[in-house]
Amino acid sequence: MPSVFETAPNATAIPITFATKSTWEAITAGLPAPARQFAQANGFSAKPGKYLILPAADGQIAQVIFGIEDEGSKSRDLFRAGSLPGLLPAGIYRFANAPHDARLAALAFALGSYRFGRYRKADAADVRLVPPDGVDAAELVRISEAAFLARDLINTPSNDMGPAELEAAARDVAARFGASSVCVTGEELAKNFPLIHAVGMASSRAPRLIDFSWGDPAHPKVTLVGKGVCFDTGGLDLKPSSGMLLMKKDMGGAANVLALAQMVMDAKLKVRLRVLIPAVENAVAGNAFRPMDVFKSRKGLTVEIGNTDAEGRLILADALALADEEKPELLVDLGTLTGAARVALGPDLPPFYTNDETLAADVARLARQENDPLWRMPLWPPYDSWLDSKVANINNAPSGGFAGSITCALFLQRFVEAAKSWLHVDIYGWTPSAKPARPEGGECQAARAIYQLLSERYG
Ligand code: BES
Ligand code: MN
Ligand code: ZN
Repeated sequence: MPSVFETAPNATAIPITFATKSTWEAITAGLPAPARQFAQANGFSAKPGKYLILPAADGQIAQVIFGIEDEGSKSRDLFRAGSLPGLLPAGIYRFANAPHDARLAALAFALGSYRFGRYRKADAADVRLVPPDGVDAAELVRISEAAFLARDLINTPSNDMGPAELEAAARDVAARFGASSVCVTGEELAKNFPLIHAVGMASSRAPRLIDFSWGDPAHPKVTLVGKGVCFDTGGLDLKPSSGMLLMKKDMGGAANVLALAQMVMDAKLKVRLRVLIPAVENAVAGNAFRPMDVFKSRKGLTVEIGNTDAEGRLILADALALADEEKPELLVDLGTLTGAARVALGPDLPPFYTNDETLAADVARLARQENDPLWRMPLWPPYDSWLDSKVANINNAPSGGFAGSITCALFLQRFVEAAKSWLHVDIYGWTPSAKPARPEGGECQAARAIYQLLSERYG
């Protein structure tokens, strides 16, 4: 997709004026009389999300007025401008005045121009924006292109996005920045990553662990792990059809880790980055793993399978154990792990978990700043015993089902010991119904906020 930003100087860009309920009167007063009349005849009152195209005397577009919320409004949406690419006719535009946050508005404009065009031609108009003064356009391009990568990977259906295709996508990201990748499969996977193998073995599309590193080995080690379940049928504890419908997006953690890695490498942050993606399909077949099976994990802990549908934490456990072995300064994992996270916080507000108070404060602050919302939930020690198994060291799916996102985080925590700091985010990776800057479908979640964190610390 070509960049939405028009970086060549452009004197004829069409101005977009942001108006709120309280600034509208002053703005109308400044308009030429016919334009004021036109706005009034159209009944335009600068309601948030509403727009008005004002014609010039020669019939060209003179300017656009776009309604946004008032400064103090509780429902203020900093991504409002993200609906403009879907509303405006083709052309080159510029912001005539400052919306609440010009950088976020320009980013929203870019994010809102995304179309998934793999299977049919996208019917979008060529709407472009001259980046507002003082905004780092290259940075916005970096972030939006990475977000588009995440969305494309998630939106691609499972028949075209199996473990092999996810591996190819990861290798492509790695190669573009000169990182070399390895991939563990077959006997070696079965021997060294028993949980990844157990989850993925029923599929005709072989499970694997993708592993690439980038950057100066002397820089601080930052390792990203992403859940790459290319389709989640639930395994033998099969999901009902309603729950299975969206499960092509179960590699959303991997997609977002790749997006984050791309931002980090593109910005040349001073880190030694490692990316680990366990890629599997949780399928049903005669050789599928079963409830009450017991496997010895890479870390040595034995794991009893309470439910084959709690597969994400299994594959992450082996990948986290590997990551932990080299004691990274920061270990981050992202995955579409639980329905319970959605019950608690809904699709747009993923919970994050960490015991590092400074990290928690930084993540919360930057999630808000970047409009990439995240909400801290606790690694509540009293629930840790819920993971007890009668026959093994740990069970992957505690009975009862209470606090499902927390118990998943506690399960993963058992596999992290040496990392200086660990951050786990239980994302949804999907926008169920379109909002400004967020078209329905695969979504980039947590990657933008974490990128800002890394860029603050290692930029
Ligand atoms: N991929 C699902 C979680 C999921 C479901 C995320 C729907 C977003 C939307 C995960 O593998 C899963 O099935 N989790 C189970 C765990 C349970 C069996 C302990 C869940 O959340 O029901
Ligand atoms: Mn599952
Ligand atoms: Zn899953």
